[in-house]
Amino acid sequence: MPELVSPSSHYQQSFIQAVREAQAAGSGLGDTLNWDVTQMEADFESVLADLRRYEPGHELPEGFVHSEHLWLVEGDVYLGRASLRHTLTPRLREFGGHIGYEIRPSVRRQGHGSTILRLTLERARGLGLDRVLITCDTDNLGSRGVIEGNGGVLEGEFVLASHPKPIRRYWITL
Ligand SMILES: CC(C)(COP(=O)(O)OP(=O)(O)OC[C@H]1O[C@@H](n2cnc3c(N)ncnc32)[C@H](O)[C@@H]1OP(=O)(O)O)[C@@H](O)C(=O)NCCC(=O)NCCS
Repeated sequence: MPELVSPSSHYQQSFIQAVREAQAAGSGLGDTLNWDVTQMEADFESVLADLRRYEPGHELPEGFVHSEHLWLVEGDVYLGRASLRHTLTPRLREFGGHIGYEIRPSVRRQGHGSTILRLTLERARGLGLDRVLITCDTDNLGSRGVIEGNGGVLEGEFVLASHPKPIRRYWITL
């Protein structure tokens, strides 16, 4: 059964393999596509520290909110990741929302996207959030499927000066 865990060196090899996969496919969240894999292999502790830098207890740079990274794993295999913002800024309210996620290319279309969002919603509920905003590009049918399958209610479709494509905003009541 897939489960959500905090980022840990236990999954280092599998995680780095997944980053390679995403970069080869050119499909994944922006930071995944930009990671320097050689640097990651040399110093995975820095990667983990970087992923934890906005967690509660850390001092936040101006304009940032607390957030956490969660990894979907099954056994020793890394499947994907989510980030959960604990609050919204005006910018996240416009685009980005509370939750972002990706599933590694080799295991897509198997329900893992739906699972990572379902489990991240449970975590958000545990933190005391009563509803969450999730946004995606209008043409991202996979993400739309994930959100709608988890009860997302469409706020609308929007064109933003700051983003090249039309987007959708959905709310999920927890
Ligand atoms: C979006 C993403 C997370 C979907 O993950 P996934 O594991 O393939 O999703 P699931 O298998 O749970 O699919 C959920 C639903 O969407 C549908 N779906 C998934 N990918 C799809 C695609 N490319 N085109 C059309 N429908 C798709 C599935 O059929 C499923 O519908 P169903 O519940 O009616 O069967 C994955 O494609 C991904 O990581 N993309 C790159 C990063 C990204 O776009 N993140 C979201 C940013 S908002």
